[in-house]
Amino acid sequence: MTNIHNNHLSSFSRRDALALAGAASFVFASAHLGLSSAFAGYSHRQQALNIRLPDQLASQNPIIEGKLPASLRGTYYKNGPALRQGFSRSYKHWFDGDGFIQAFRFNGSNMQHHGQFVHTEKYNAENDAGDYFFDTFSHNWVDSAVARSSDEINVANTNIVHHGDRLMALWEAGSAWQINQENLDSIAKVKWHDDLATAPFSAHPHIDDDGSLWNFGQVPWSQKMILYHINPDGRLNKYNLLDMPNTSMIHDFAITKNFLILLLPPLTWELDRAKNNASFLNAHQWHEDRPVEILIVDKNDLSVLRRHHIPTAFHFHIGSAFEADDGTIELDLCHYKNADIVFNLHLNKGEKNLALPPMNPHHNRVTLSPNRNDGKVTRIHNYANEFPRTASVADSHRSQHSWSIGIDTETGLFRYALGVNLETGKVDQYDYGADCLLEEHIFVADNDRPTMNGIIPGWLIGLHLDLLDGKTKLAVLDAYDLVAGPQAMVTLPYGLPPGLHGNFVSAA
Ligand SMILES: [Fe+2]
Repeated sequence: MTNIHNNHLSSFSRRDALALAGAASFVFASAHLGLSSAFAGYSHRQQALNIRLPDQLASQNPIIEGKLPASLRGTYYKNGPALRQGFSRSYKHWFDGDGFIQAFRFNGSNMQHHGQFVHTEKYNAENDAGDYFFDTFSHNWVDSAVARSSDEINVANTNIVHHGDRLMALWEAGSAWQINQENLDSIAKVKWHDDLATAPFSAHPHIDDDGSLWNFGQVPWSQKMILYHINPDGRLNKYNLLDMPNTSMIHDFAITKNFLILLLPPLTWELDRAKNNASFLNAHQWHEDRPVEILIVDKNDLSVLRRHHIPTAFHFHIGSAFEADDGTIELDLCHYKNADIVFNLHLNKGEKNLALPPMNPHHNRVTLSPNRNDGKVTRIHNYANEFPRTASVADSHRSQHSWSIGIDTETGLFRYALGVNLETGKVDQYDYGADCLLEEHIFVADNDRPTMNGIIPGWLIGLHLDLLDGKTKLAVLDAYDLVAGPQAMVTLPYGLPPGLHGNFVSAA
């Protein structure tokens, strides 16, 4: 293992790592708000959006309409926040539930589904107590337990990534949790290095051409960011610690051939707010008058090479990134005019016919020239969409296509599967209907067919909750002919709460 011991890293030691955990304890222990479990009304739609799950779920014989592709073989792993069956308390914010891992296992003709909560420290402690009592991303209980480190409130609920023969459930502010690939049992937290125990390892790592993995972790209470480079075998290669005086809420980042690209929105974590009993989310302040700062980091030594600024905006997800020979960088991303969306992602609002707040993120391209410190922002198309995915096996190739889910701007529901030609802006769309709530759709390559003219053949697969019958369904579509509709639809015998991210692991 090679650590980059340069000026600002050399001071980061085991002692500092422990100090980070202690500081986290102070922040979370000092933050308390009044109990709010406000949701009322029990329309069918609302019941569907307040699904609670037992520790494990399994279905042996889901209903399959149409025909699953014979070459679709492997497992679609999926993660997302879920509320616990048997608990009386509830969270309103989408991001607060405990991580529930699902496996959709395809054998070329059939599919089986099973799922299980991640048995984090928080999960086990609250399981013993019979209800929620730890603080979460957006919520503090009046009688919250004192968390001694951010890992005590780690819900491991945001993404699930396979790398280095390790399946990892990921959250924003704590350790990765290793999951058993077969039975989904929680194995242990991943410790990359003694000095990095309990350090945040974010939920959107990126796998490079050589099979190595890059990631970041934000430590707002210490105003630091950790950058990670993990070898293809899953062992830490190097890490670095950046000073981050105005710590922003960063969800995703991008990699190109030579760079890591980090977008810092003007949504900053404020110690004074945290000291004043705000939840972690509400300790953030939006600065309308500040630009987005973009850091271009050198992969070689994990130092900041360039800084750019673009007008005020907020981004959850970056679709793809490409670096030209002259160092010009292009990103495509889902672009919000401000961060209101983060504060309003409530699934249990108690408002009829509204699942999510109206939102209209634009699919934009940001172009960053090495000779300038600003950036050019252009619109790719006019469909409101989120959860962008690409077909590239690695993130450092220029992507020709992007897939995402489109938003019904009247209701806030994710309703459409979208395929976007990134060169022309042309959009291919399938409309699931007004009574469906889609989840992320991902591209799965068809390994039995060759790549033609740079086009990787494959499918788009994704879940949706049918709000009329309360069942969760998985659709398989031709990735390049979405308008034709699903070629197969699998209906589970139960409804699942809307999840976040997942990835497909092809059968060996
Ligand atoms: Fe995400």
